Amino acid sequence: MNFRLLVFYISAIIALSLASVSYFYVQNWTHFAFIAVVSLIISFILLTNILHRHILNRISNIYKLIRSLKLGKDMKVLLAEHASEDPILSTEREVKNWAIQKSSEIDQLKAQEKFRREFLSNISHEFKTPLFAIQGYIETLKDGMIEDDIEMANNFLNKASRNIDRLTYLLNDLDQISKLETGQITINKEKFDVIELILETVDHLIDKARKQNIDIVIDIKNNSPIYVKADKQRIQQVLVNLIDNSIKYGKQDGKTKINIYPLFDQILVEITDNGFGIEEKNISRVFERFFRTDKSRSRDIGGSGLGLSIVKHIIEAHQQTVHARSTEGIGTTFGFTLEKAKGNT
Ligand SMILES: Nc1ncnc2c1ncn2[C@@H]1O[C@H](COP(=O)(O)OP(=O)(O)OP(=O)(O)O)[C@@H](O)[C@H]1O
Ligand SMILES: [Mg+2]
Repeated sequence: MNFRLLVFYISAIIALSLASVSYFYVQNWTHFAFIAVVSLIISFILLTNILHRHILNRISNIYKLIRSLKLGKDMKVLLAEHASEDPILSTEREVKNWAIQKSSEIDQLKAQEKFRREFLSNISHEFKTPLFAIQGYIETLKDGMIEDDIEMANNFLNKASRNIDRLTYLLNDLDQISKLETGQITINKEKFDVIELILETVDHLIDKARKQNIDIVIDIKNNSPIYVKADKQRIQQVLVNLIDNSIKYGKQDGKTKINIYPLFDQILVEITDNGFGIEEKNISRVFERFFRTDKSRSRDIGGSGLGLSIVKHIIEAHQQTVHARSTEGIGTTFGFTLEKAKGNT
């Protein structure tokens, strides 16, 4: 109920009671009406003032508490904002909003906590696998394999060394993600021809593609360069991971297609393969750190699942977007945008 209406009803009850008492003694209707009106006005003014002060003081204390916890608005600001409204109603609304905001913050904190726990378990798992392998090889070598079978010992040393390389890649990737997240890696934008960069990157990966007899086709309409403004080295990293994924998760004798689409003030680069694809439910998760689909885990291909997370960070640090679409058994497309270079900049 509205605050003023409530005060009015209470005042009316008081006024009627007083007027009835006076009628009982004086037996005069004019006198009754006079007492009723006067006491209604006086009790309305008094009650409004007393209750207002009393309630507002308490609300003010609640606000002081909220404010001291840096959680809400200043009471004065609130009252100024809702000067024409009922203070109890506006306070109720403010507190409700505040509670909703707090509960969404708590949900966010819970999600972060869950993410942190998963991250720690993923990271220890990723480190354990190569470490245990190295430990196994070294134990066997220590147990006399060097004297018994030098060829096998060499083989074990090579395997141990490959596992150390894997640990090094993992650490480098993690180091890069944390630097990108904390803004320690700065994006040095320059003007360059994206077609030239794509050709150069494909050149690095062509041997790997040939091993699986995968054809890499670059769809260039004409031979003219397309200039973009971005960090060339980081964009090459993006291209390497996306093309490398298209080969790793592509099929034998398959095809990787690279398309470049000019947009208004951006260009869109898309890398499409006809590999085993990604399940619908996993598409949005492939950019998460350490995420690998069950298929790539079971076939023991792929790396640690950090590549696409780095790709996302790099593209977002350029204020651009990256997306994925895929149909299981048909293939996958990853696309990202880049800023077109204007004039000489
Ligand atoms: N083109 C693709 N086709 C099918 N699945 C893909 C494709 N690209 C990525 N994926 C899936 O997404 C996962 C994450 O990819 P991401 O590049 O982040 O990691 P990775 O390739 O496994 O390891 P890294 O890139 O760190 O060496 C992959 O493990 C794979 O399951
Ligand atoms: Mg990858």
